[in-house]
Amino acid sequence: MTARRIVLLGPPGSGKGTQAVRLAAWLGVPHISTGDLLRSEVQNRTKLGLQAQSFMDRGELVPDQLVAEMIRQRIKGATGFVLDGFPRNIKQAEILETVTTVDRVLHFQLDREEIIRRLSARRVCPQCGAVYNLISSLPQQDSLCDKCKIGLVQRSDDTPEVIQRRIDVQYAREIGPMLEFYRKRNVLREIDAQGDIESVYQAAQRALE
Ligand code: AP5
Repeated sequence: MTARRIVLLGPPGSGKGTQAVRLAAWLGVPHISTGDLLRSEVQNRTKLGLQAQSFMDRGELVPDQLVAEMIRQRIKGATGFVLDGFPRNIKQAEILETVTTVDRVLHFQLDREEIIRRLSARRVCPQCGAVYNLISSLPQQDSLCDKCKIGLVQRSDDTPEVIQRRIDVQYAREIGPMLEFYRKRNVLREIDAQGDIESVYQAAQRALE
């Protein structure tokens, strides 16, 4: 049976968001991205958004309790989801386990050089959040979102210094214990994320069977 409660782990820029959109459509389950949820809170200037913004701007994790409540409300009772960006540390993995069971965890592996190359070329639609890339996923019309037809922008945390911090502080420091946590539960699968979008997608689909 194909897994339906899925967690994607991986460094920034490893393609979690790109693959989450495809996998969620394939499985007919919601794509839940903590990054997207937080950016929407920031844009709407909510209390949570105002608290989260400075952490995001610095490339640091937003405090666990702020993110945990947001995610609890989204997944409580859900029979399927593709969770992109949560958990980010062992505390969050433990919180998730109190809310739901996870069928499969995919860990995307990508080297630092390629992370920086992909994130420096990433452009997003400020309206619908669609993700493009100046090297690998160009829009049909120069710098315009295919759907909304408005100008694409660069994410404010996609600067070289903030990318380095996101890799070091959020990912490298936290990933080891999380992999161990999910390996023990026999749900972890490693995915080589160096290939093109289609070949990574096929590898992810195989890992869910
Ligand atoms: P978030 O938005 O989750 O950022 P991230 O984890 O750093 O991940 P990214 O969105 O940068 O990368 P991705 O892996 O989704 O790659 P993508 O598919 O876009 O979080 C933002 C911030 O929110 C965090 O820094 C933190 O402050 C906070 N936050 C979020 N969750 C939190 C939590 N749980 N706890 C605390 N704080 C939290 O791909 C990247 C680019 O590459 C794109 O241009 C894409 O088109 C391209 N691409 C994708 N795949 C390929 C491929 N195979 N080949 C070539 N190009 C590709």
